[in-house]
Order: sequence, then C-alpha cells, then structure tokens
Amino acid sequence: MFEVIETDRLSICAWEPTDAFALMKLSREKGLGEFAIQKYDDMSDEEARAWIAKQIVSYGEHGCCRFGIVLKKTRKLIGISGMYERTPKLDEGLDINWRFPVAHRGQGYAFEAAECLVGFAFDMLEKPHVNAYIDPTNEPSKGLAEKLGFKFVKMADELNRPAELWRITAADRFDERDLSVDEDDSP
Ligand SMILES: CC(C)(COP(=O)(O)OP(=O)(O)OC[C@H]1O[C@@H](n2cnc3c(N)ncnc32)[C@H](O)[C@@H]1OP(=O)(O)O)[C@@H](O)C(=O)NCCC(=O)NCCS
Repeated sequence: MFEVIETDRLSICAWEPTDAFALMKLSREKGLGEFAIQKYDDMSDEEARAWIAKQIVSYGEHGCCRFGIVLKKTRKLIGISGMYERTPKLDEGLDINWRFPVAHRGQGYAFEAAECLVGFAFDMLEKPHVNAYIDPTNEPSKGLAEKLGFKFVKMADELNRPAELWRITAADRFDERDLSVDEDDSP
C-alpha cells in the first residue's frame, strides 16, 4: 500500500497486489461487510486479489478508488473508504464509500477519512459534487453523511435496492467554512 493522502491520524492508501493478505485479514473482522452490496466478509485470497486489481485500475484511470485506511500509530489497515466512478456513469460526480469493522468505529476515523476525501474530490480531482447512496435503514451512514455536510437529494435505487441519494457540492463545502475574520487580524 502506498500513501496518497494523510490526515492527523490516518494514511489514506492506494493498493498494491501484495496487500491481499492484509485485506483478507480485515475482511475477517466483524462488521466490515455490513450494508454491503458486494462481498466484503471473509474474502478468499482470490477474491481479495480480484478486488484489489479493480481498485488499482480505478486509481490508474480516475485518480481515486476505495482506498485502504491505515492507522498511522500502528500501521494497521483499519478500514476502507474512498471514491469511485459509477458505471454506467450517471453524472459528473463521484460516489463515496466508507466501511470500518466494529472494533474501529466510534473513534471519528470514518469522519476524518471522509472529510479529507471530500476535499480531495473537490480540490485535486476537481469534481463538482460527491454522491453517497445509502440504504434508508443505515442510520450510522446517514448520520455520518449529515455530519460531513451532505444533504438528502431524493430516493433512488442501487442495483434494484432502494437507496437514499445524499450529495455534497463544492458550494456546500465552501458555505460551511468559517469565513469570519478574527478582530485581531483586521487591518
Ligand atoms: C458508517 C460507519 C463508517 C460509521 O463509522 P463510525 O466509526 O461510527 O464513524 P465516526 O466515529 O467517524 O462517526 C462520525 C459520525 O457518524 C455518525 N454516526 C455514527 N454512528 C451513528 C449511529 N449509530 N447513528 C447515527 N449517526 C451515527 C455521527 O454523526 C458521528 O458523529 P458524532 O460521533 O459526532 O456523533 C460505520 O458504521 C460502518 O462502517 N458501517 C458499516 C459499513 C456501511 O454501512 N457502509 C456504508 C455503506 S452505504
């Protein structure tokens, strides 16, 4: 794995074929595959290699993929979060995903990674917006999206399952920045 972006506590990493064992280990941690449409739990060596191969293609073609999230302090792979182009392409935006086993939840890692990824989509990849398709019953994901500044757009479907489409635009993000000037800084 090699670091693409870093946050205070996390390395957001692109994949290499040699990461299959680390991914297989992560896939055995409880909760990684919750609310997943594709298979994440208990990946075989072959499944892990195939999944990584797809991410390598995505990163090469689009500059993003479902990245590996590594905790800097331990150098351990603790989750998956990233962005991808939907096929067939629906719009000019990217889709975001986040996925952490139970043991690594509730510590702000998902928020820290996703906040950085949203900034990456706007500032580096110059995307107009980022989409999140969320199962209507997935309260943690909806809560995370809301905390990040995503807004509910409409009901949609994902592979014939109902999904809520949430979106953040570059303008939403700009509006949320604190533009106030400290009195001491004024001329
Ligand atoms: C969604 C997920 C990534 C959140 O992980 P997490 O570790 O709880 O996230 P964080 O600690 O960074 O929390 C960020 C925010 O998420 C929201 N959140 C987390 N758990 C929540 C819950 N049970 N209900 C409502 N909001 C919740 C809160 O707004 C929280 O901020 P707060 O702590 O200030 O209240 C995690 O639950 C997960 O991996 N779920 C399984 C995979 C999945 O559903 N992926 C999405 C597929 S669409």
